[in-house]
Amino acid sequence: MTTDGKNDGFELDRFERHYTERPNVTESRLRLIWAALTTKLPGRTLSIGAGTGDVEAALRDRFGFTVDTIIEPSEALLPALRSKGFNTYAGIAEDYPYEPQTFDTIYYNGSSFGFIDDENLESTFTKNYEALRPGGRLILSDVPKESSLGIVLLTILNHPDIDREPYRDLLKGTAFFDLADGGVPTYKPNWHVIPYYIDVLKRVGFTNLQFKQTVLANTTYQDDTVEDPVPGYDKGNYVAIIAEKA
Ligand SMILES: C[S@@+](CC[C@H](N)C(=O)[O-])C[C@H]1O[C@@H](n2cnc3c(N)ncnc32)[C@H](O)[C@@H]1O
Repeated sequence: MTTDGKNDGFELDRFERHYTERPNVTESRLRLIWAALTTKLPGRTLSIGAGTGDVEAALRDRFGFTVDTIIEPSEALLPALRSKGFNTYAGIAEDYPYEPQTFDTIYYNGSSFGFIDDENLESTFTKNYEALRPGGRLILSDVPKESSLGIVLLTILNHPDIDREPYRDLLKGTAFFDLADGGVPTYKPNWHVIPYYIDVLKRVGFTNLQFKQTVLANTTYQDDTVEDPVPGYDKGNYVAIIAEKA
């Protein structure tokens, strides 16, 4: 169910820990989103579901790239975004007052589109499409359902009472697993394989789809080294889809 920004399970400290607990994965993910953002000049850019904005701050510090607007519903996370000086809209992607042809790039990083109810996904991507200028891009970065990380996270999500101990050496430090506190998983509720999103994007009218993937190792070894993204979507535990408006 779509969030109202309250009682969404997000906690500031717990959320920010995810970026530091697996530093090489965080770095690989940053390289993935930067590679996706720069298949063209990003231009006027909207980030949807930025959490605490740690990624946006890293893009700013590392590459001098500043996102123009951020949509973020979480009352727990919005103060962190604002303290970093970002221009924010408190609300959800479905309700944002998009204006036609006003952005060159719209991106959902870290699976944030997976929080949009399935029945609203195509209409929301259609709103994104209309808000893009010709040649503009929609970027979706995700943990694919079919990846090894996706399979175990989805299992925990569907079985919240499962004994997590046997999963420790697979998932320690992964986003939102939170073994230590035994907390309720707050990762995305809606999971689909990449071809599902390809079909939705094509129905909306997007063309020239490109794919980049990273963190190709199995879960236990994912933080061992930093990886640069490679083309494709069939191996990565993190995948970016780049779709263009003609
Ligand atoms: C998994 S976090 C990703 C955070 C960040 N982009 C990253 O990569 O670390 C998902 C984010 O999407 C936000 N979100 C949830 N539902 C949303 C919606 N309907 N519209 C926009 N953002 C949403 C959540 O509040 C959260 O900040």
